[in-house]
Amino acid sequence: MATLLTGVSRGIGRGVARTLASSGEPLLVTARDLAAARTLADELGPHVRPFGLEVTDDGQRRALASQLVDSKVALSRLIHNAAIYERTSTPETAARTLATNVFAPIRLTEALSPVLAADARIVLVSSSMGQLHSYSSAMRARFEGVTTQAEVEVLAAEYLAAGGPDGAERAGFSRDAYSVSKALLNALAQAWARQFPKRLVVAASPGWVKTDMGGPGAPRSLAQGVARIVEAATTTNVRSGAFYADSDPFTR
Ligand SMILES: NC(=O)c1ccc[n+]([C@@H]2O[C@H](COP(=O)([O-])OP(=O)(O)OC[C@H]3O[C@@H](n4cnc5c(N)ncnc54)[C@H](OP(=O)(O)O)[C@@H]3O)[C@@H](O)[C@H]2O)c1
Repeated sequence: MATLLTGVSRGIGRGVARTLASSGEPLLVTARDLAAARTLADELGPHVRPFGLEVTDDGQRRALASQLVDSKVALSRLIHNAAIYERTSTPETAARTLATNVFAPIRLTEALSPVLAADARIVLVSSSMGQLHSYSSAMRARFEGVTTQAEVEVLAAEYLAAGGPDGAERAGFSRDAYSVSKALLNALAQAWARQFPKRLVVAASPGWVKTDMGGPGAPRSLAQGVARIVEAATTTNVRSGAFYADSDPFTR
């Protein structure tokens, strides 16, 4: 049984790969720059296999899945780490943000379903920016009441149709595309836990971490952020469907 981890070219993904590889268990690492994944795999050892994957590219997702089917890989763990954070939330940047941060994990999980164990653990690397404080109470209730992936996709489509920050706010969402993307991921964890009761689905925030995304002023070191995601991926003491914010203990 193997783990597949996206976005290992830098930041938290690369750190999580290094820590998980130290167990010696099979690890599949993906980066949109195959050379970056190869360099990391060469450093970590023969149990680490590199793949090129632009997570938003359907052809690449399917090609990866068929390679894994052909090589009879079975995945016990899937960690959706790759994501973007854009400073603006125009309709274009919002579409790109949701494509990368929400639809890519959904479609990649679907593509990998032939090789994903029935009781696989799925980790959605989320953010405390995905909390629902700034939402209208009606919209918050819809997020909190989600029971299916389809409902998550409807919420995503409604947000994108709102046409930018002002429309998003009028519709009851956060103004910020990244925040909405992570709120949708948290709702997705809740939905998948219901739809796939044998799976363990965890959404977890690494906290605000010094990476290219978090910037140099972030209070947490890379090691702290990595440790948090490794814990989300390995501890047995988690509740499927839950979102664990920056400092929430991983308890049931
Ligand atoms: N850092 C923080 O403070 C913080 C806080 C809360 C949550 N998070 C979450 O933690 C995770 C990792 O963040 P980070 O800080 O390590 O970010 P980062 O340093 O910006 O790294 C992002 C990673 O995602 C990859 N990626 C982005 N778009 C991709 C795409 N379309 N296809 C394939 N790979 C793609 C990047 O690959 P390239 O090198 O090819 O661009 C890179 O490996 C993300 O889910 C982020 O939302 C981070």
